[in-house]
Amino acid sequence: METTVGIVGGGPAGLLLARLLHARGVACVVLESRDRGYVERRQRAGILEQGTVDVLRACGAGERMDREGLVHDGIELRFDGRAYRVDLPTLTGGRRVTVYAQTEVVRDLISLQLAEGPPLLFDATVTAVEGADTARPVVHYRRDGVDARLDCDYVVGCDGFHGVTRTVPPPAARRVVERGYPYSWFGILADVPPSSDELVYAHSPRGFALASMRSPHVSRLYFQVPNGTDPADWSDTEIWAELASRFETVGDWRLRTGPITARSVLPMRSSVTEPMRHGRLFLAGDAAHIVPPTGAKGLNLAVADVVELARAFGRLHDDGSPDLLDAYSATRLRAVWRAEHFSHFMTSTLHLAPDQDPFATRLQLAQLHRIADSRHAAAELAENYAGFAPPDPLAG
Ligand code: FAD
Ligand code: DHB
Repeated sequence: METTVGIVGGGPAGLLLARLLHARGVACVVLESRDRGYVERRQRAGILEQGTVDVLRACGAGERMDREGLVHDGIELRFDGRAYRVDLPTLTGGRRVTVYAQTEVVRDLISLQLAEGPPLLFDATVTAVEGADTARPVVHYRRDGVDARLDCDYVVGCDGFHGVTRTVPPPAARRVVERGYPYSWFGILADVPPSSDELVYAHSPRGFALASMRSPHVSRLYFQVPNGTDPADWSDTEIWAELASRFETVGDWRLRTGPITARSVLPMRSSVTEPMRHGRLFLAGDAAHIVPPTGAKGLNLAVADVVELARAFGRLHDDGSPDLLDAYSATRLRAVWRAEHFSHFMTSTLHLAPDQDPFATRLQLAQLHRIADSRHAAAELAENYAGFAPPDPLAG
């Protein structure tokens, strides 16, 4: 097989890139190691920035999102016995976020792609990328026990943090800048209506908690736990009691409880691979960078990467100019580091480190009160949370 752009990984980054390239007449093939059911059920992010929503609409994948997604105008910060609502449109000139699960985004993109192309191969595990710094790289993959190759003009690594492409550049040609955290998120899905209409981010004496949702009938909740926590060690009763104690710090607010249908523990890390290009291999999404989840930037960053790549390949295809491709890594690294900073800020302001001293806690609370008391500080948070406008994916 051969193509113009070989895309490794069929998560949100790879699938969306394929749609955008197809729309611009650039040939591509997506190779995904897992089966369709697995990819569609993998429970992950839930918050789409305005720019992500606009891109999904522009590429024809917005119909169900517009019907079923929940548009949110604000988030609540809960700390020190106080609840402060960050009004996103007021503080950002009209920007909002949409609650629409990553599982649904992926489902919509897969059904479009299987109906209209370009080719998407499941159960195709990429084992190596050869000749990334030559004019004709080759992607080697294994499918149904048979080794195969995809000859390409360019390769885009969209295979996530545990994929193969981020380690293709030799150590001398890449730098990994990263930081770990001394806590993880315990995440649950529960068949119970959300307790609030909007998301609640809580700083409490027992640690961070987040109340989110998947629909008007399904809640998604997270709370900070020590690294290495086994989700099986917690009973449902203990989980609800812990969540209640972290959220029920203001007024007569009460947490709604119900059957827990899924649970997992997510470790967190900040990591950026620089540059995001090696020869004719480009890295996008989690293959290039990951953020801790507080602030919900991961999926949105992946989308913004592939919007830029689609513009760049479109420019090359339309008038032969590689200028946007050449600028890709530098352009995206600026935005990536903005999101890294915001995600680290939200994480370190809202979580309690093990044995955190009272001074550090007072600083966190001072920062949270500052956001609640100053329109400037609130606007800084709101702009980062709602996201910055990416370029039009189908233009210039
Ligand atoms: P991925 O979604 O990781 O997709 C990569 C794809 O490549 C996968 O389908 C994988 O099967 C495939 N692949 C891997 N190796 C190969 C190979 N060798 N050959 C072929 N295919 C391969 N973000 C938030 O904003 N909020 C959250 O709550 C949140 N929760 C998360 C929970 C978890 C457990 C994880 C891992 C991430 C979470 N994120 C969250 C981050 C967000 O989900 C990611 O940023 C987003 O999925 C990035 O999309 P991607 O397409 O770049 O990578
Ligand atoms: C969700 C995840 C996040 O990381 C976040 O900041 C908000 C919501 C979610 O999964 O719903």
